[in-house]
Amino acid sequence: MNRIAVLTSGGDAPGMNAAIRAVVRAGCDKEMKMFGVREGFQGLIAGDVIRLRARDVGGIIQHGGTFLGSARSEDFRSPEGRAKALRNLREYKIEALVVIGGNGSQTGAFELGKMGFPVVGIASTIDNDLYGSDITLGVDTALNIALEAIDRLKVTASSHHRAILVEVMGRKCGYLALMSAIAGGAENVVIPEVESSAEGIANDILDAYRRGKNHALVVVAEGATLNATELSKYLEQHKDLLGFSIRTTILGHVQRGGVPSASDRILAARLGVAAIEAIAQGRQGVLIGIGKGEIIETPLEHVASRKKELDLGLFQMSRILAT
Ligand code: F6P
Repeated sequence: MNRIAVLTSGGDAPGMNAAIRAVVRAGCDKEMKMFGVREGFQGLIAGDVIRLRARDVGGIIQHGGTFLGSARSEDFRSPEGRAKALRNLREYKIEALVVIGGNGSQTGAFELGKMGFPVVGIASTIDNDLYGSDITLGVDTALNIALEAIDRLKVTASSHHRAILVEVMGRKCGYLALMSAIAGGAENVVIPEVESSAEGIANDILDAYRRGKNHALVVVAEGATLNATELSKYLEQHKDLLGFSIRTTILGHVQRGGVPSASDRILAARLGVAAIEAIAQGRQGVLIGIGKGEIIETPLEHVASRKKELDLGLFQMSRILAT
């Protein structure tokens, strides 16, 4: 295979630029002709393809986001959209495509693969909810951003004897919330995988107050059934019973825009090089991820149809450490 394209798709994740750079330079090293597709699958449908040489990906390793642009393409969900994308790939004589993205993007990659086009995925999403990789690109940076916010919120919460709810991203997965709660020493964490009640959280806050704590920090995953807005409403209504007054912070997209950590840049390098290696050796229809510290390949069919489970032992651990 000689003409390879790369695209970034779905929510941007810190380290995507480093992954594009790794794919392009590893391809150049094998004397492949490398191309970039702008704006993810949407750009593929529009035929927005550019030539990328080694120098074109210089100076981007330290930047968050993706210089190719990204999108959540509605058009690519339809057979017509995918057929158009395939026509453009053929027109540019592209022989294989590297898709850097999370769940929706790898499902799209699988669909393209089913149409007979060679595709290799790179596991990338801050949510860490992708089957086929223990850790995905962007998680480490997003986690550190959430953690920095939690550390700061704890300082002000302690000064004012407050309970602070902080909502973190993660879609339907509680990974970011749970890990930032453990690393930040939060008093409680609300995640989609474990049922919580507003009453139970209120009792925990009161309990923390009675145990002599001068703050209570509760991390709430955006995808939890009991979301931060509802929870804060309930706590406001019952504030006289809590000991602490309540404040709420929603971190939102702040978590996505960070400078990629060393760990994410190194992960990007490993995944990018492994993707080109797989293509060079004739493997396709797989996701390149990390399993027990090593590069692993998982069929995109499994990635598209299976769910990664959160280790709930870590939730129990967070409860023990919050005493
Ligand atoms: O998948 C990454 C993510 O940041 C999720 O955590 C979040 O639910 C979603 O994307 C937000 O999507 P958008 O950027 O389209 O608002």
